[in-house]
Amino acid sequence: MPVERMMPTPEAADLIDLVREIAARDLAPVAAGHEAAGTFPRDTFRLLGKAGLLGLVGPERHGGGGQPYEVYLQVLEEIATAWMSVAVGVSVHTLSCYPLVAYGTETQRRQWLPAMLGGDLLGAYSLSEAQSGSDAASLRTRAERQADGGYRVTGTKAWVTHGGQADFYTLFARTAPGQRGISCFLVPAGAPGLAAARPEEKMGLTASTTAQLHLDGVPVPAERLVGAEGEGFPIAMSALDAGRLGIAACATGLAQAALDAAVAYAHEREQFGRPVASFQGLSFMFADMAAAVASARATYLDAARRMDRGLPVTREAAIAKLVCTDGAMRVTTDAVQALGGYGYTKDFPVERYMREAKVTQIFEGTNQIQRIVISRALAAGAAR
Ligand code: CAA
Repeated sequence: MPVERMMPTPEAADLIDLVREIAARDLAPVAAGHEAAGTFPRDTFRLLGKAGLLGLVGPERHGGGGQPYEVYLQVLEEIATAWMSVAVGVSVHTLSCYPLVAYGTETQRRQWLPAMLGGDLLGAYSLSEAQSGSDAASLRTRAERQADGGYRVTGTKAWVTHGGQADFYTLFARTAPGQRGISCFLVPAGAPGLAAARPEEKMGLTASTTAQLHLDGVPVPAERLVGAEGEGFPIAMSALDAGRLGIAACATGLAQAALDAAVAYAHEREQFGRPVASFQGLSFMFADMAAAVASARATYLDAARRMDRGLPVTREAAIAKLVCTDGAMRVTTDAVQALGGYGYTKDFPVERYMREAKVTQIFEGTNQIQRIVISRALAAGAAR
């Protein structure tokens, strides 16, 4: 059942209608096939780019949609309800544009943002390494300054969503020791010395390619440094504040899809002479699932509205990521339960939803890291 949304403007309401149309026509019918085959739907991203959905929060003067997060995140939720891998891809692309939007110079923005926000160039965000996951500041990939002012980047990045598919990588590398020695670069996919490894074989989101990235002395001109040298860590963290809101919205859409599938099934399926939905064991479970989805939506929207007002969101984004993704895990697991043995088969989508929910508790900062962020914010508040 479509979610009843209170959009802030008539333009935003029209946007949601357009997204629902695209989701029903171009996403939902092909999602299961791509997930089963593990094929990356590059054409789908081109289509979304043409519809203006890959740059919704970017500035209009650089080809973005100029929409608030309150609208963008609800668009993401709608896409996730139809196809989670694509919604995560849109979120990661938006994350990869964030540093240039927020920290780039006007010249850099003019040069690269129109193609990025217009969807001609698909982005990836490359922070993690095999030994540097939760402890993001411990990354080892080096960017060594050359005589001409440019850099040569050497190292291996890991868990790169769109690795090998992206046209550019928003990549963090070390220009000096310590957490203040990390810098942010916009690395084009075709740069010599850059190669993606064989994609990871994952439990879910199989149509979303995840791969390591090897960099062997990759030349990166000085004009592709985003922000100041050494400013990379706060850039990475503030981008992740926004990115975590995206993941929260995606997880909410996934949970909504699981709830819808479970309710529809339970009204059709009869046992003991009546629909199983009429038994309290299931109807109470559905009530809890619906409450979890609605709470998740309210939590990410609250954070989005803060973001749109320019207020700090580090704590609220961590709360939204935690609430929405833990909620999605519970709701998708209960959806499998509601379908009984059928839920455990690939004849119904709920087992896939459950597998897809799992990673939302892990990527863009595990939910243990979100608890660290929230508890540090509480401690800082208490110390004031
Ligand atoms: N915004 C701006 N600046 C921030 C910030 C934020 N949200 N969070 C921290 N900073 C700044 C701090 O102010 C501090 O600056 P000063 O030194 O000037 O005071 C500096 O960054 C260091 O902060 P911390 O001391 O808090 O750093 P830490 O080393 O303790 O790490 C952490 C904090 C929260 C654990 C962080 O490392 C973290 O978030 N880890 C998880 C990493 C992560 O989310 N990875 C996801 C990879 S991307 C991915 O999954 C994408 C994908 O493709 C799906």
